[in-house]
Amino acid sequence: MRDQAAQLRERLQKSQEGKPTRLITVTSGKGGVGKSNFTLNFALGLLESGQKTVVFDADLGFANLDVLMGISSKKHLLQLLEPQTTVWDILEKGPGGLEFIAGGTGFSQMMKVDDGKLDTMFRQLENLQGYADILLFDTGAGVSNESMRFILAADEVLLVTTPEPTSITDAYALIKMIHSQNPKTAIRLVINRVSSNQEGKQTADKLAMVAKRFLDMELSTLGYVPDDAIVSKSVKQQKPFFLTYPQSPAAKGIRDLVSAYTRGVGAVSSIETGAGGLKGFFAKMRNMIR
Ligand SMILES: Nc1ncnc2c1ncn2[C@@H]1O[C@H](COP(=O)(O)OP(=O)(O)OP(=O)(O)O)[C@@H](O)[C@H]1O
Ligand SMILES: [Mg+2]
Repeated sequence: MRDQAAQLRERLQKSQEGKPTRLITVTSGKGGVGKSNFTLNFALGLLESGQKTVVFDADLGFANLDVLMGISSKKHLLQLLEPQTTVWDILEKGPGGLEFIAGGTGFSQMMKVDDGKLDTMFRQLENLQGYADILLFDTGAGVSNESMRFILAADEVLLVTTPEPTSITDAYALIKMIHSQNPKTAIRLVINRVSSNQEGKQTADKLAMVAKRFLDMELSTLGYVPDDAIVSKSVKQQKPFFLTYPQSPAAKGIRDLVSAYTRGVGAVSSIETGAGGLKGFFAKMRNMIR
């Protein structure tokens, strides 16, 4: 018990250091393009590079990050509604020391609770400010209201698509939707399941071209992840490929993306100028809910 209390204090102290925390929403137009696998392994890559990363499972339909990690979490976002439960109580530890919060349907429930309770939850979550360098939100596919809130409230958006035409058109539909609600949203593309970097580039160029032509929008690209049988194998083994197959093409692709992210590849100027952090995030969320 004593140990836990000490740990808690240490964490609270850390959380008060006021370090910037970057909020990234991972999304896609079409479902099943690899968002959750990307989020999980990218987070592990960020951790490896020394950036403290906490993952939120914000998929309201089929939250399954815990399944991909092979753990069945009893902790859940909605437990913050119970008195005395802190954000540290609901932070789950996954493989490789990755910390995550199981949100899932909790997020849509959260939108429905009264203002007082909502504030309590937000205040708890805000303690992650400065504790994490990066918060990654894995959302469900498509343009649900909830996913849209995460997209519009985040500091930046990573939009995952594959080179398949159906995935590209759905990605474009989502970009159009985001653009209509906030043209300043910082979106970067992640092209998943590419057979070559050339295919990745072609896919990204195609999207950037239509975005430029029809929306007058500059779309940038973070990078590509190769199509790799190790991904499906790892899903079945319920172990993140970044840890179990660090030399696989997919893991190398993720490592390249982490390095690109760290170097600020494709970063839009609004990313550089800093962002609202968790307080800003929840303030925006709140405005969208009420
Ligand atoms: N780089 C890759 N190479 C090969 N297969 C992949 C790759 N990325 C994803 N997949 C396959 O796609 C499947 C779906 O991936 P994942 O669950 O991450 O998608 P998702 O976008 O999160 O889906 P949903 O929209 O349902 O949340 C994986 O189980 C895997 O079989
Ligand atoms: Mg998913």
